[in-house]
Amino acid sequence: MTSSVQLSPLDLGNHTVQTPVVLSPMAGVTNWPFRMLCREFGPDGLYVAEMITARALVARNPKALRLCQFDPSEKYRSLQLYGVNPSIVEQAARIVVDENMADHIDLNFGCPVPKVTRKGGGSALPWKNDLFRDVLHKVVSVASPAGIPVTAKIRVGIDDDHTTFHDAAMIAQEEGCKAVTLHARTTAQYYGGHSEWEKIGALVEELDIPVIGNGDIWTAEDAVEMVRETGCAGVAIGRGCQGRPWLFGDIANAFAGSSERINPTLGQVGDIIVRHAQLLTAFYEGDEMMAVHDLRKHVAWYLKGFPVGGGTRAAFMKCESVADVEAEVAKFDREVEFPMAIADKPRGRVRFAKKVHLPYGWLDSRAMTHEEREDMFADDPMDASY
Ligand SMILES: Cc1cc2nc3c(=O)[nH]c(=O)nc-3n(C[C@H](O)[C@H](O)[C@H](O)COP(=O)(O)O)c2cc1C
Repeated sequence: MTSSVQLSPLDLGNHTVQTPVVLSPMAGVTNWPFRMLCREFGPDGLYVAEMITARALVARNPKALRLCQFDPSEKYRSLQLYGVNPSIVEQAARIVVDENMADHIDLNFGCPVPKVTRKGGGSALPWKNDLFRDVLHKVVSVASPAGIPVTAKIRVGIDDDHTTFHDAAMIAQEEGCKAVTLHARTTAQYYGGHSEWEKIGALVEELDIPVIGNGDIWTAEDAVEMVRETGCAGVAIGRGCQGRPWLFGDIANAFAGSSERINPTLGQVGDIIVRHAQLLTAFYEGDEMMAVHDLRKHVAWYLKGFPVGGGTRAAFMKCESVADVEAEVAKFDREVEFPMAIADKPRGRVRFAKKVHLPYGWLDSRAMTHEEREDMFADDPMDASY
C-alpha cells in the first residue's frame, strides 16, 4: 500500500525533525541500545530516552545517570523527565541544561502506574491545573534560554468523568511547549481498549503547536491512518516496536509512499538479537550478565509468533553471556519466515487499570491550596523553597 499522506518536518526550535516519527519513551526499553536499533531502521525522527525521575537525577543516582546516556551517533539527544514537585523538576532541568545532557526535554504527564499516580505524578498531575502549569513554567524557564525545546506528553485524563487533555494541552502551549504528545487513553484505561484517536484530532483543531498522536500504532498502515484521521503532526510508537525495531523502517517507507515492508526471517531476527546483546553489553560497561538479563524481555518480544519451542525460549532466559545468546541463536532455523499473522496484533501491556490510585481528596478540586502544597512538598529535604 502506498500513502498519499505526508508528514511535514517538525520544527522544535533548535532542530528540525525531518520525519516526525517518534520512538515513544518506554521505561526499561528505550535505552540507547534499543534507540540505536530503531534509528538504524528508521527515518530521521525523534527517539526519546525512557523517563528519568527528576529526584533521582538531582540525587545523582548512578542508575538514573546511566539512563541519561546517549550514543555519540545520536546527534539529537531527547530526554524525558518525570516529577511532581516543581522545584525538583526545575533542579533536574537545570542539571540537564548546565551539564549539556540533552538537546530536548520531554515531560512525562502520561504515566498511569499506581506508584506514580498515587503521589499525584504522571497522568494524575494535569488534574491540578496550577501545579501542572508550575512544573511546565519552571522547566521552560530553565530550558528555553539555553535554546532547549520542551514538550509535554499527556493522556486524556484520569477517567471519562475527569478528562484533562483540553486544559493541559492549552496550558502546555501557553507555557511555551513546542509540541504536545497525546496518548489518547485515560489513566483508568491504562493500556486496555483502544487509543481514542478522535481526541488527537480534537487537539489538532484546538492547538497552534504541533500535536503528536500516540496509541495503538502496530503497523506502518496504522501510522499513516492516524495522520490521515487526525491531521496530527507526528506519530509516537510505543509497544508496536517492542521486539520489532524495524517497524520504524516500515513507517518511513509508508510515509515515503513505498509499499516495501521489512519482514525479517528468524535468522535475521537472530542477528538483531545478538547485536542487541552486544549493544547492551556496552551500555552496561562490559557487564554481560546485566546485558543478557536486560535482553530477556526483548527476546520474548522478538520471538513472538515464531514457531520456536518453549525449550528455546527458556534457554534464552538462562543465558549469562553474549556467547550463550549467540549459541542459542545459532540453533535457529534461519529460513523460517516472519509470522505475518501476529504483525498487526497488540503486544506488551494490554489491560485496563484495576483501580486508579490518587492522593487523598485529589479529585475534589482542580486547584491546590497552599496548605495542600505544603503537605505534599514541605518535608522534602531536596526542596529549599518551603
Ligand atoms: C513498558 C512501557 C514503558 C513505558 N514507559 C514510559 C515512559 O517512561 N514515559 C512515558 O511517557 N511513557 C511511557 N510509556 C507509554 C508509552 O510511551 C506510550 O505512550 C504508550 O505505550 C501508548 O503507545 P503505544 O500504544 O504505541 O504503546 C510506557 C509504555 C510501556 C508499555
